[in-house]
Amino acid sequence: MRDLTPPLEWAGDHIRIIDQTLLPEQVNIIEVRSAAAAVEAMNRLAIRGAPALGAFGALALVVGFDEHEPSTLQEAATRLEQLRTFIGDARPTAVNLRWAVDRVIDHALSSSETLDDVRLALLTEAHRVAEEDAAACREIGRLGHELLRNATTIGTHCNAGRLATAGIGTALAPMYAKAEAGEPLRVLASETRPLLQGARLTAWELHDAGIDVTVLPDAAMASQVLSGQVDAYIVGADRIAANGDTANKIGTVAHALAAREAAIPFYVAAPTSTIDPALPSGVQIEIEQRDAIEVHEIRGKRVTPEGVAITNPAFDVTPERLITAIITEVGVLRAPFQESIADALLRVGASQ
Ligand code: MRU
Repeated sequence: MRDLTPPLEWAGDHIRIIDQTLLPEQVNIIEVRSAAAAVEAMNRLAIRGAPALGAFGALALVVGFDEHEPSTLQEAATRLEQLRTFIGDARPTAVNLRWAVDRVIDHALSSSETLDDVRLALLTEAHRVAEEDAAACREIGRLGHELLRNATTIGTHCNAGRLATAGIGTALAPMYAKAEAGEPLRVLASETRPLLQGARLTAWELHDAGIDVTVLPDAAMASQVLSGQVDAYIVGADRIAANGDTANKIGTVAHALAAREAAIPFYVAAPTSTIDPALPSGVQIEIEQRDAIEVHEIRGKRVTPEGVAITNPAFDVTPERLITAIITEVGVLRAPFQESIADALLRVGASQ
């Protein structure tokens, strides 16, 4: 049966999220009632995916504000500045988090004359972030569906679906649209080591929606692509630089290279809130380094010899030249990305 538990929800004075670390075995809800609990949930990937982190981080500001009960506007401003860093820096590559936290705090501080105003402005703007993301997902789904009309077997990496956004997803939104239109569709989801967002989350969410999904080891995708068994790729993004270079889950660049070699399209799907116009290229994107334990152990069991070194970057950067198009809520952006991205941001009124 279809599981329609909302992955992220405001419950009046706290946030309710599905603990994504326990999927697919358990759909367990966690109640987040403090800024520290919010940061902990983000750090251990109970909530994850760049747009979902933005929506969650925005609501976490309200929780962190309530916790301290500031008694003057000055105290409120001081508390929000603490939260700006504490919550905004929890995951450094996913720019939607920093973007949403800055947006909500700046709005609350500039539009409020009383303490009640501050709290209301924080909550209203946080809801607006989530609503806009849901709308962006729908439009990305519509535009991606047009591009993928003739694609039947589609590859994806990590999870860029409803678990990763405040809506129906970015990379997975066109899959939902195709399925709804009754078009033939088979999704190849690479398992996404070390934390298995593809095998656990994409597989769970698509299977649950009745979409034909096959999980492959990360290392098996390139041969499928080169032997002509994949029509197109679509992946999400954590941060897109001004020139189109795109940070996404570690391993994405290998998929893009295989797609280029096989001459199939490689699409990135992301809302404009994932674009960071302050960074000229992907070289400047900070890549989150995660704990070695994630590689040392599988499900709590050590698989590496004692004493070996580990590197565990959570993301890599796909150079813009490997990307066929970036699907955003304001249109399908193509090379030269420097120009198409700048135009898109002008359309959404973002500063550059
Ligand atoms: O470490 P994660 O699971 O937060 O990484 C998520 C991804 O890389 C997603 O592809 C990206 O955030 C886009 S989600 C719509």
